[in-house]
Amino acid sequence: MSVHSQAKRVTVPQLVAAKGERKIAALTAYIAPIARLLDEAVDMLLVGDSTAMVGYAMPDTLSMTVEMMAAHSAAVVRATRHACVIADMPFGSYQQSPAQAFANAATLLSAGGASGVKLEGGQALADTTLFLVERGIPVLAHVGLMPQYVNTMGGFKAQGMTEAAARRIMDDARAHAQAGAFGVVLEGISEPLAREITAALPIPTIGIGASPACDGQILVTEDILGLSGERIPKFARRFADAGQVIQQAARDYAQSVREETFPTLTHCFGVRSEQ
Ligand code: KIV
Repeated sequence: MSVHSQAKRVTVPQLVAAKGERKIAALTAYIAPIARLLDEAVDMLLVGDSTAMVGYAMPDTLSMTVEMMAAHSAAVVRATRHACVIADMPFGSYQQSPAQAFANAATLLSAGGASGVKLEGGQALADTTLFLVERGIPVLAHVGLMPQYVNTMGGFKAQGMTEAAARRIMDDARAHAQAGAFGVVLEGISEPLAREITAALPIPTIGIGASPACDGQILVTEDILGLSGERIPKFARRFADAGQVIQQAARDYAQSVREETFPTLTHCFGVRSEQ
């Protein structure tokens, strides 16, 4: 069965049209049960390669593959009907050439059911954005703090803090916009720079650790739900403590099993009601 459905989703052109009209609310989703809960509330769900760290407890995002991302994307698409689903292109799946990028992005749309892809990179990747867009693949660019560049950045550090670095990030964002990207994620950059880029570009900026002036915001869902440990990143806010709720439910369940109050005969098959 195809992963694609006839659901009336938010479309990429609708996200573009939101610029200057209303803020875009976006979150990450990697698996069906969480995606199902988030779907109605947000405009966009990003199947982020951050699932490497959040879902697989890896130290960085570099080990995700196209097959893994396509499987996560398909799960999110099958579980949702409203949000526009965008899938991250994993490290090594698009940097070699535009043709390599097209083949892998096509898999994320065909097998993964995504409505577009996100790729990290500066001006050097703008020709790849152009190549994909001209062939029917919507691209969300990602500049500033790019987690796939952790080794060249020397860690996950905020970017654009010098005038020269800020100019470079502005040029990166402009290059992707000119190449036809439908939006650009601004991650971990100085607030005035994010504000300036948002004012300069004709396409929506989606901020994470960027600026309230961005056209939209995205966060890692587990950070807002209290599911990513004690430490909350500076740029996030915990909107719920689902971690505590889940922990308590697990304790209550375990206690019921040990005290033999669960299961009861009502949870069993082949039991007559008078028993
Ligand atoms: O992979 C991801 O979750 C992301 C967002 C943080 C923007 O790229």
